[in-house]
Amino acid sequence: RLLHCALMPADKSWIDVDQYINDQVTAEDAALASAMQAAATAGLPPISVTAPQGKLLHLLARSINARRVLEIGTLAGYSTIWLARAVGEGGRVVTIEFDETHARIARTNFARAGLDARIDLRVGRAQDVLPRLEHERAGPFDFIFIDADKPSTTEYFEWSLELSRPGSLIFVDNVVRNGGLADGSSRDPDVLGMRRFLERLGKEPRVVATAIQTVGGKSYDGFALALVIG
Ligand code: SAH
Ligand code: DHB
Ligand code: MG
Repeated sequence: RLLHCALMPADKSWIDVDQYINDQVTAEDAALASAMQAAATAGLPPISVTAPQGKLLHLLARSINARRVLEIGTLAGYSTIWLARAVGEGGRVVTIEFDETHARIARTNFARAGLDARIDLRVGRAQDVLPRLEHERAGPFDFIFIDADKPSTTEYFEWSLELSRPGSLIFVDNVVRNGGLADGSSRDPDVLGMRRFLERLGKEPRVVATAIQTVGGKSYDGFALALVIG
């Protein structure tokens, strides 16, 4: 799974600064630290968002008063916990994961965080679950986090437009891939997936969008953020 991962190891100062930011500001608590630890112990790939990134997802969702959140790609549920804490008591996070082992670890992490009542974990391929959500009229979602297989990002974005409303935010992780995004001759399927997605994003009249490069404990990558306007 990680064989075609385009990321280099993070620079030591990026890791140290993320640690400092978490110590001073974002203050990951015991439930989040345990979720990350459980993922590592189970040998899951170390690709959860960092604490400062998780807090950014939390702040964005919270600042628009999101009550319904959709996440595509759960892994151990680390980002899910940050989002579930943003939606409040009556809120809901639907999160999609096709790997049974990941889903089982995520469920344990949700229970430990006391958040299982707010989280609806759907086990299945996103390509199959997204049409089912549409059929169930599970939307519109106020905030959507796309973070699964990178080559399918454009299709997940298209489903996100169907499952959102004007005012919804769509956040897409891992769009920069160690700078691969700007390499027009790349054959990395993740880079190709993100180049296809950004080209689509720039042409989509139903959103206003940007993309931002980031460095941190997870190396050099970035995200795209889109506001649905119609
Ligand atoms: N959002 C998580 C990390 C997700 S990693 C966090 O930041 O904490 C990406 C996850 O997407 C993996 O667990 C992988 O199994 C899952 N995934 C990949 N392709 C998928 C697909 N087609 N449908 C559903 N899940 C998928
Ligand atoms: C990968 C996936 C992620 O969601 C991430 O944040 C970092 C890396 C990957 O598959 O390489
Ligand atoms: Mg990611």
